[in-house]
Amino acid sequence: MRLRNVKGASTIIENCPFIIKDYKEYKGKYKTIFNNNNPIHIEIGMGKGDFIIGMAKKYPEINFIGIEKFDSVIVRAIEKLDEEIPNLRLIRMDATEIEEVFDKEVDTIYLNFSDPWPKNRHSDRRLTSLKFLKRYDSLFKNEKTIIMKTDNRKLFEFSLIEFNNYNYKFEEISLDLYKDDIKDNVQTEYERRFHELGFPIYKIIVKK
Ligand SMILES: C[S@@+](CC[C@H](N)C(=O)[O-])C[C@H]1O[C@@H](n2cnc3c(N)ncnc32)[C@H](O)[C@@H]1O
Repeated sequence: MRLRNVKGASTIIENCPFIIKDYKEYKGKYKTIFNNNNPIHIEIGMGKGDFIIGMAKKYPEINFIGIEKFDSVIVRAIEKLDEEIPNLRLIRMDATEIEEVFDKEVDTIYLNFSDPWPKNRHSDRRLTSLKFLKRYDSLFKNEKTIIMKTDNRKLFEFSLIEFNNYNYKFEEISLDLYKDDIKDNVQTEYERRFHELGFPIYKIIVKK
C-alpha cells in the first residue's frame, strides 16, 4: 500500500512525539521508552494503524510498537492519534533492518495482510519468508510468538510451509476467522475491506 506523496509527511513525522526517530539507539532497552517491564508486541507493516491503535487501547498492560515502511502511510496513522496512548509508539522503517533495532525484548510479532509479493523471485521479500523468520529470532525475549492474518490464500500456504520448516508449532489456525471465534479480534483496514467483500480471512498463531 503506497499512497501518493502526502504533502508535508516528513514534517508531520518529525514533529510527532509518538514516533521513535532514533530507533536504533534503543536496541535492547525499549522498556525505557515505556518506563515499565510490560510485554512488548510489535506489528510489522502496520499500514494506517487501525489495528495497533485498537490493540493499544484494548490492552493497556501491553506495550505496542507499530512499524511501517512508508511516510505517506504512517502519517495516516499519526492523524488518528488525537489522544496520548502511553503504551503505543510507532517507527518509520523498513523491516529488513529489524535485527539492528530490537534485541531479546519482543514477546509477539503481528503480521497483518502483509504484501504477498506473488512472483517467486520476490519470495524473500515476504514477511513470513525464511529470510525474515531468521531475522526475527534475535528480537524475541523468550518464547517466540507470531500472529498472522491475511486474505491471501497463496501467501497463507507459503507462510504455513515456512513456519513449519523453521520449527514453529501451530498453536491456533483459522481458515475463515469470521466463521470461527472473533471475540477478541481487532480489525485492520485491509481486513475490514476484504471481509466486507466476502473474502475469508485466514489467521494463524505460531510459537517456538
Ligand atoms: C497490504 S498493507 C496492510 C496494512 C495493514 N497491516 C492492514 O492490515 O490494513 C502492507 C503494509 O506493510 C508495509 N510494509 C511492507 N513491507 C514492509 C517492510 N519491509 N517494512 C515495513 N513495512 C512494510 C506496507 O508499506 C504496507 O503499508
